[in-house]
Amino acid sequence: MDVSSALARRRSTRAFRPDPVDPVLLETILKKALQAPSNSNVQPWHVWLVTGARLASLRAATAARSTVPPQFDEREYSVYPDPLEEPYAGRRFQCGERQYAALGIAREDHDGRLRYVYNNHQAFGAPAAMFLCIDRAAGPSQWADLGIYLQSVMLLLTEAEIDSCAQISWTAFHSIVRRELAIPDNLMLYCGLSIGYAVPDAPVNAVIADRADAADILHILND
Ligand SMILES: Cc1cc2nc3c(=O)[nH]c(=O)nc-3n(C[C@H](O)[C@H](O)[C@H](O)COP(=O)(O)O)c2cc1C
Repeated sequence: MDVSSALARRRSTRAFRPDPVDPVLLETILKKALQAPSNSNVQPWHVWLVTGARLASLRAATAARSTVPPQFDEREYSVYPDPLEEPYAGRRFQCGERQYAALGIAREDHDGRLRYVYNNHQAFGAPAAMFLCIDRAAGPSQWADLGIYLQSVMLLLTEAEIDSCAQISWTAFHSIVRRELAIPDNLMLYCGLSIGYAVPDAPVNAVIADRADAADILHILND
C-alpha cells in the first residue's frame, strides 16, 4: 500500500472485534514509527502498549469510575480553547452528532451520550491500546512532534490492515492510566490509541468525518 492509499483508507474505528493483533507485528510498527521526524530530532514521545490482562485491569478500573454523573479527573492540559470559536466549534459538533445519529442516541439523552463516551475508556473493545505521553516541560513544538509519531503509527497500522482510533478521551481518566501503566510523574498523558480489527457492520464504523473545503484552508500563492 502506498502512502496516498493509507492516508485515504485510515479512518477512526469505534467498535472493534476482540480478536488479538499479532504482538510482534504491533511492536514492529511502533518501532518503525520511531522514524518519525521531530524538531532538532529531540524525539519527545514516550509510548506504552497495553494488551491482555493489563488492558483488562485498566478497563475494570475505568468502568468502576464510569458513573452518571461522571467522576472525571481534573484535566492536566486543556484540550480546547474556551470558548472554542468557529469554524472549529461547528466541525467538532458535527463530528459528535454523526456518531450519536448513527447510534440513535438523541441530543437530549445526556446520560445515553455519557454512556457512549465511556466506550472510549473500554478502548472501544479493542485488544490493544497505545498510550502516548509527553514530558511536562515540553512546549508546542514537542506536542506537534507527538502528533507526527501518532499519525505515523496509524498509517503503518493501516498498511498492515489494522484499524485504530486516536483518543484524547483517555485523559479524562489520566490518573487511572498513570497508575495502571506506572507512568512516571514527569510525564503527562497526551492521548490513547485503540488498535485492532473493526466490527465490519457496526453503524458507528460507517460514520464518515468529511473534511472542510481545501479552499478554506490552503493558501497557495503561486504569483
Ligand atoms: C489526537 C486525536 C485525538 C482523538 N480523540 C478522540 C477521542 O477521544 N474519541 C474519539 O472517538 N475520537 C477521537 N479522535 C478521532 C477524531 O474524531 C477523528 O480523527 C476525526 O473525526 C476524523 O475522522 P477520521 O479519523 O475517521 O478520519 C481523535 C483523533 C485525534 C487525531
